[in-house]
Amino acid sequence: MRTISELSSLARRVALVTGAGGHIGRAIGDALAEMGAGLILLDRDEESCRESEREISRSRGVSVRSVIADLERMDDRGIVAEIEKISGRLDILVNCAAFVGTASLEGWNAPFAEQSAETWRRAVEVNLTAPFVLSRSLASMLSESGHGSIINLSSIYGVCAPDLSIYEGTDMHNPAAYAASKAGLLQFTRWLSTVLAPRVRVNAITPGGVERGQPRPFIDRYAARTPMRRMAREEDMKGAAVFLASDLSAYVTGQNIVVDGGWSVW
Ligand SMILES: NC(=O)c1ccc[n+]([C@@H]2O[C@H](COP(=O)([O-])OP(=O)(O)OC[C@H]3O[C@@H](n4cnc5c(N)ncnc54)[C@H](O)[C@@H]3O)[C@@H](O)[C@H]2O)c1
Repeated sequence: MRTISELSSLARRVALVTGAGGHIGRAIGDALAEMGAGLILLDRDEESCRESEREISRSRGVSVRSVIADLERMDDRGIVAEIEKISGRLDILVNCAAFVGTASLEGWNAPFAEQSAETWRRAVEVNLTAPFVLSRSLASMLSESGHGSIINLSSIYGVCAPDLSIYEGTDMHNPAAYAASKAGLLQFTRWLSTVLAPRVRVNAITPGGVERGQPRPFIDRYAARTPMRRMAREEDMKGAAVFLASDLSAYVTGQNIVVDGGWSVW
C-alpha cells in the first residue's frame, strides 16, 4: 500500500492551469508545483501569467512555461500543439480561467434588467464552452497519461442563488450569466466523468467568495452568513486541488468539493 506522501506526489506529471495569471489559478499552480508537477500556465494576460511563471519557478524549482491565449477566441489546435512542443504529455487540466467581467463592462455588473445578452454569451463562452473545447481537445493526451485528471473551477453561485441583501448599499451586483455558466460547468463535470472514465477523472472545486477588497459592509455580511465566519482565501483552494490532481483521489470522479466555509449548508 502506498503512503500518503507517495499518493500525493505529482513528480513527473504535467499540469495545464488556465487563468493562471489570476489569484486562484496562481495558488493552485503553486500547490501542484510544490507537489512536483511541471506546469504550463495559460492566460490571456501576458504580464500576470509571466509573473506567475517567474514566482512559481523561482520558489518551486520545477519546469514552468506560459502559453498566452484568449479562450474567448480559442485556437484549441494551437494550444494542443504548444503542449506537445513543451512537454509532449499532459496529466492534469485545471479549468480555472473565468469571465469575471469588469465594473465598467456594459450589461455585466448591473441589476438584472440591465444585464445584456451579449455579455451573457461572452461569459458562457469563457466559463463553459472553453472548458468543453479544451477537455475534448486534450482528452486523448490525458487518457494516455495513465493518471488523467480534469479539475473545473465552479462557484458557490453555480450551486446557490445569491442573497441580494448582502449587496445592499454597494455598487456590486450578481450576474445571471456567471451563475448559469458555473452551474452548467458542474453538470458538464458529472457528464464528462462517465464519458472519460476509467482513463480520466473529472471533478470540480466550488469556491466560496474570496475576500479581495470588497466594501467592508459586504465582507462583514458575507462572513456573518458563513459558518466559518470569514470569506475564502486563495490558499483555501490548494488542498482540494492537490487532492483532486493526485492519486489521493484515484477513486473519486464526477464529484464537487465545495470550499465555501459552510456557506451552502444552511
Ligand atoms: N474570486 C472568487 O471569489 C471566486 C469565487 C468562486 C469561484 N471563483 C472561480 O475561481 C476561478 C478563479 O477566479 P479568480 O478569483 O482567481 O479570478 P481572477 O480574475 O483573479 O483570475 C481569472 C484569470 O482568468 C483569466 N482569463 C479571463 N478570461 C480569459 C480568457 N478569455 N482567456 C484566457 N484567460 C482568461 C484572467 O486574465 C485572469 O488571470 C474562476 O473560475 C472563478 O469563477 C472565484
